[in-house]
Amino acid sequence: MQIHPRSKVHAVTGGGSGIGAATVALLAQAGHTVVVLDRAEPAQPVAGATFIEVDVSDEDAVVGAFAQIRQQHGRLDGLVNSAGIESRRLVRGMDAAAWQRVMGVNVTGTMLCTREAAALMREGGEGGAVVNVASIAGKRMSYSGDAAYTASKAAVLGFTRHAAFELAADRIRVNAVCPGPTLTPMITRNLSAESIEAVAAVVPLGQWVKPEDVGHAIVFLLGDGAAMCTGTSLDVDGGVLISNGASHADYFRQRQ
Ligand SMILES: NC(=O)c1ccc[n+]([C@@H]2O[C@H](COP(=O)([O-])OP(=O)(O)OC[C@H]3O[C@@H](n4cnc5c(N)ncnc54)[C@H](O)[C@@H]3O)[C@@H](O)[C@H]2O)c1
Repeated sequence: MQIHPRSKVHAVTGGGSGIGAATVALLAQAGHTVVVLDRAEPAQPVAGATFIEVDVSDEDAVVGAFAQIRQQHGRLDGLVNSAGIESRRLVRGMDAAAWQRVMGVNVTGTMLCTREAAALMREGGEGGAVVNVASIAGKRMSYSGDAAYTASKAAVLGFTRHAAFELAADRIRVNAVCPGPTLTPMITRNLSAESIEAVAAVVPLGQWVKPEDVGHAIVFLLGDGAAMCTGTSLDVDGGVLISNGASHADYFRQRQ
């Protein structure tokens, strides 16, 4: 029998798909109790995970979902904010409603869930950890998304730093991961096979990030190994940010 570290209770927004689902699977495999918070029931339920339907941009719904976690588990140790959307609109076609939908889920949803999770963690008296799934778009710009998405992810990074400072008083750590191009339904439902291949060619490590690559970074930031990390962000991008858009193949061709 595998021996697990003390089992903890973690909530994962957007845990029904992509990066969130991969994180749920890793946490459940490690013996933790996991609550999936998503607007849609996961296509494939994960053993060890329960599901609460919630739209993270709806304040009353978020308050209700965390009240359910309090009632069912009596505590919370970790929160992963992975729910996210993009609008795919150009600035010239953007309107306030589309802009606010992206901000509502990516930024307001992250704030609301962090607020409610922190209240439960504070009650537990043992601190806790929050990991926000931002994006390298928050540091540069989005390739597949839009200006609202880029702005929202920059806001998530700002929120991460500020909340980390405030919540340190309760020994609650707040960090972010910044995934690069990650092959999830968010991408496959929007990009053509040719575009998917073209993107892989500009990743220095030569392939798309896998959802579980990001999941492992999230699990690290949630865990005791990251006990003194707070307010930071971890890029999981195969080297995209450092490459400055340069093609790896061209770089070496010019120097042979
Ligand atoms: N895929 C990428 O290349 C990439 C890169 C950087 C960052 N990210 C970020 O990673 C996170 C996860 O994205 P993904 O690629 O796994 O996408 P995905 O579409 O596969 O998963 C997103 C999940 O969020 C849920 N969700 C959306 N709106 C919601 C709402 N209002 N309330 C509750 N749940 C909601 C969806 O139902 C879905 O299960 C997002 O925040 C995204 O911005 C993705």
